[in-house]
Amino acid sequence: MRAGILRLGNIVPDFSANTTQGEWSSFHEWVGDSWCILFSHPADFTPVCTTEIGRLALKYEWFKERNVKIATLSVDPVDSHNTWLKDVVAHCENGITIDFPIIADADRKISVKYGMLDPTNLEDTGLPLTIRAVFIIDPEKKLKLQLNYPASVGRNMDEICRCIEALQLSAKNSVATPANWPNNHDSIGMKGSVFLLPTVTKEDADAYFKDYKTCEVPSGKEYLRLVKTENLPK
Ligand code: BEZ
Repeated sequence: MRAGILRLGNIVPDFSANTTQGEWSSFHEWVGDSWCILFSHPADFTPVCTTEIGRLALKYEWFKERNVKIATLSVDPVDSHNTWLKDVVAHCENGITIDFPIIADADRKISVKYGMLDPTNLEDTGLPLTIRAVFIIDPEKKLKLQLNYPASVGRNMDEICRCIEALQLSAKNSVATPANWPNNHDSIGMKGSVFLLPTVTKEDADAYFKDYKTCEVPSGKEYLRLVKTENLPK
């Protein structure tokens, strides 16, 4: 098996799979017209993964409202996932339910296709476990964002929600989100605002972006153009 190179903007590999919600003949078909976040975690019955799946479950409705499907994956079999999920539910507050599928990738075929095996983290048999990967995929099945974390660092679900909001905003409008958005640095009373893309001409900015403001900088160049998200074209 050869590891593929996945690049932003490319169509992600399709695959069949066994999951906690049944067999899939096609991941792409399962995603359908939705956005999708494909997560991997190193192993069932491990502490950080247990907290991650719980935190993800708490965000499930938030993602659903934004047309985002969730699937997670590890190299453990479905029976193991199902037994472990009882621990996840018991450990997490608020009586959560796990309404998204967990993929079983024992033969690592999917993990190889997505390049998510960690050669530094091996199971007892010597085979590699998966890293903590996050693939955000748009309805055209294109990879829009990827995060890779090692087994030792649990992911922040609020950051993943922030990425979804930013991606969906920029999919609809010619905008980009500043560092730390929506808590971005604000020198002109435009907190939570987003930048017009440099490719937006002055004429188009004036025509389509209501009340945008330009930050003055020593160069005199007008590239820091902020617009409030509520003023973006509908
Ligand atoms: C964990 O989820 O806690 C974990 C899994 C594999 C290696 C290290 C930590």
